[in-house]
Amino acid sequence: MPLDPPMTPTGQVHEMDEPDHTGLNPSTEPSIGALIARRYSRRGTLAGLLVSAVGAGVTAGADPADAAGPSSLTFRDIPHSLDQTHHIPDGYELQVLLRWGDPILPGAPAFDPHNLTAAAQERQFGYNNDYVDFQPLPRGSGSSDHGLLVVNHEYTNTELMFAGLGGGRGVALKSTLAQAQVETAAHGLSVVEIRKTGGAWSVVTDSKFNRRMTASTPMTMVGPAAGHALLRTKADPTGSAVLGTLANCAGGNTPWGTILTTEENINVYFGGDPSKLPNAEMYRRYGVGRETLYSWSRHFDRFNVEKEPNESHRFGWIVEFDPYDPASVPVKRSALGRFKHECCTHAIAKDGRVAFYMGDDERFNYVYKFVTARALNPQDRAANRDLLNEGTLHVAKFADDGKFAWLPLVHGQGPLTEANGFATQAEIVIFARKAADLLNATPMDRPEDVETNPVNGHVYVMLTNNAARKPEQVDGANPRAANAHGHIIELTNKDGDHGALEGTWSLFLAGGKPGIDAGARYHRATSESGWLSCPDNCAFDSKGRILIATDGAPVAAGVADGLYLADTDGAGKALTKLLFQAPTGAEVCGPTLTPDDRTLFLAVQHPGEDRGSVFETPSTRWPDFKADVPPRPAVVVITRKDGGVIGS
Ligand code: FEO
Ligand code: CA
Ligand code: CA
Repeated sequence: MPLDPPMTPTGQVHEMDEPDHTGLNPSTEPSIGALIARRYSRRGTLAGLLVSAVGAGVTAGADPADAAGPSSLTFRDIPHSLDQTHHIPDGYELQVLLRWGDPILPGAPAFDPHNLTAAAQERQFGYNNDYVDFQPLPRGSGSSDHGLLVVNHEYTNTELMFAGLGGGRGVALKSTLAQAQVETAAHGLSVVEIRKTGGAWSVVTDSKFNRRMTASTPMTMVGPAAGHALLRTKADPTGSAVLGTLANCAGGNTPWGTILTTEENINVYFGGDPSKLPNAEMYRRYGVGRETLYSWSRHFDRFNVEKEPNESHRFGWIVEFDPYDPASVPVKRSALGRFKHECCTHAIAKDGRVAFYMGDDERFNYVYKFVTARALNPQDRAANRDLLNEGTLHVAKFADDGKFAWLPLVHGQGPLTEANGFATQAEIVIFARKAADLLNATPMDRPEDVETNPVNGHVYVMLTNNAARKPEQVDGANPRAANAHGHIIELTNKDGDHGALEGTWSLFLAGGKPGIDAGARYHRATSESGWLSCPDNCAFDSKGRILIATDGAPVAAGVADGLYLADTDGAGKALTKLLFQAPTGAEVCGPTLTPDDRTLFLAVQHPGEDRGSVFETPSTRWPDFKADVPPRPAVVVITRKDGGVIGS
């Protein structure tokens, strides 16, 4: 079965236009790019549609040109733009901290884009930085000027990394074994010690903490699926010793100071035809084996499902590791389920158990919450080491009346029985999507980040887009057909308790350009450049104000992806203001603040991922802007020139 029409001619995995693999949508659906282009070309007929305002008590008639208006955020927002470089407001500074290929381990050679080797890449910063986490040094100190930066490397853009391959779908077929080895080494994560001195941040290149993880790093599978027959391979008859982590998108951390990195679009690495294998339906449900976007299945048997049918079951998990111990072996926590994980963010329940919120980022997939069986022990870090092995995985069901419920995915309960293919809890977590289907969970518009506001305790779900939703599939929590611009919903657990199994939800905002995109919904004082499209990652500052990073801004409207800030309560609720605009082709990821809210880390992912953009003729050479150097995904640091709080 052919993939949906590629939305980027390079055939790479663009997050906004991820091919659908659920089988729920016919492949004849319009691409989001086509949908948006059509909509903006019709602006004359659509102009004049009313914009709904959100936020009770908004200041009617507030002057959008006013720097702050009803918002608590006083920075003067920047205008929308789409060009080869980034943009920040007056009074702010930007420093490129870590770029693809920067040496971070002893012995790493300098970056040479014309002579990439796997050996060099294993010691250099990886490709396509996504999740960013700042953990203070010393551990537990709360420091805002010294720490460990943990960064995911989600995927690779073959056409921008290597000369001579061109673009389009054939790239994967042309790349050599040596190039595939560079790409496996460019995946995974980096842990890097960083320090602020005299207002500038720098990398401690000889730090004992620095680490690279790749698609080949040894890891252990734990929890209910560990050792299961579906996880055993020729190389690992134990079903518990896995090589590598893949497609690490967003993530989270734990109250005990470990990192949770999340495996998302794992299917694109696997080739071969699974149609004759047992569980063919499950491969289809996870999109595995239909078509690979990489050459790995030709070069490595384990990525060919016909040769190694179970290898793909060993990816799609939450992976926990200790960033303070570079020798520690990462563990895949199977109790949290296998799907296309966007994130895994925690909040503590009233009885001390810990809840972890997760999105499954694919059209018509679900929002999940795992709650540990035991309470957190704040006094004893070691006591929490295996807290994630026992607990209950739940999936969300949203009613149109503004209520929601968390439904348990527990073997023996409801339809989750052997008669329906679930002999034990292991099958439930390995095929969590199928189990959630049986519980009639609510199919969402691509759940990306799910994060808890530290001030009001509400949970915010980024629903990035879903062009395939038909009018008859619209529901309360997914209120637009052909949803090209996404929306954000706000959940309030009953009694504000993250252990509760029910609560209420409301719409926080709906993306798109007011007057053009029907159903766009913001604070009425939102300025001309305050509207956004395709919310993806988010974060909160210590005042509970939200930072929203986008992935999929409409090129047709002349807008690049960016970072928007807004209040979450009060007169400025949902009044989004643009603080950062990315270079062309890039999405913005990993918004992370230091504890003092004075340093902002952003991941600029896949700069130059544009139509026709390849190694020799990229659409931008950000951030180096040197001839013959391709664009380089990079983590940037944003501060105020006066050292003040970001957004103020
Ligand atoms: Fe990798 Fe859902 O973004
Ligand atoms: Ca995305
Ligand atoms: Ca994402």
